[in-house]
Amino acid sequence: MARPLPGYAPEGVLQPGIDRYINQLLPPRDAVLAEMERLAKRERIPIIGPACGRLLALVAQVSGARRIFEMGSAIGYSTVWLARAIGQEGKIYWTDADPKNLVRARQFLRRAGVLNRVEMLEGDALVSLKKTPGMFDMIFIDVGKEQYPAALHLAFPRLRRGGLLIADNVLWYGRAARPAKRGDRSTRSIQQFNREIHANKRLFPVILPLRDGVAVCRKG
Ligand SMILES: C[S@@+](CC[C@H](N)C(=O)[O-])C[C@H]1O[C@@H](n2cnc3c(N)ncnc32)[C@H](O)[C@@H]1O
Repeated sequence: MARPLPGYAPEGVLQPGIDRYINQLLPPRDAVLAEMERLAKRERIPIIGPACGRLLALVAQVSGARRIFEMGSAIGYSTVWLARAIGQEGKIYWTDADPKNLVRARQFLRRAGVLNRVEMLEGDALVSLKKTPGMFDMIFIDVGKEQYPAALHLAFPRLRRGGLLIADNVLWYGRAARPAKRGDRSTRSIQQFNREIHANKRLFPVILPLRDGVAVCRKG
């Protein structure tokens, strides 16, 4: 196992005390989200967590997003935050390659009262995006880290002007800020993704060092 990085926090890049402080300020979640958080902790499912969930919901609400494509949804935790934020008329695409996640996510989404605004696409999220016609107000990238550059190339043309591209884990437990070790393809891919969103003249990116780093980019 790799030696912990200086300042390494198991849950992300924030100092553990700061992360705890932010999280203990948050209002309690409803029964469904709370159960999902417990399941994720028990089974080590890497969900975005409540602070980033609130960020996604906030960004969706202030931008008035109605049609969202999520790449990598697991048990549907981030989907619930986004689906609630877009309201009754909104539509969000849940995608995941793991069929076990589909079954669990469907149950949670039903219990959260949002299943009717979610379309569930099992399989490779990049392929699912290619197969789904139309433009999106928001695309959220949370697939395997080596796939981030490819996901960006597919997502960018599918965002409407003024749309938002969001990606989780862009600081990758701090590794993104250090030279990548030989063979560390995940870190190299995240670094490439971060360079590309900043080099793209039509994207206006901000990296927020919340949890493991979230990139929020507006397409102009
Ligand atoms: C970090 S988890 C997603 C967590 C979720 N966004 C949340 O915060 O609640 C990543 C998920 O993406 C899935 N995944 C990884 N690469 C994928 C791909 N290319 N296509 C579809 N699913 C993928 C994995 O099965 C895993 O469930």
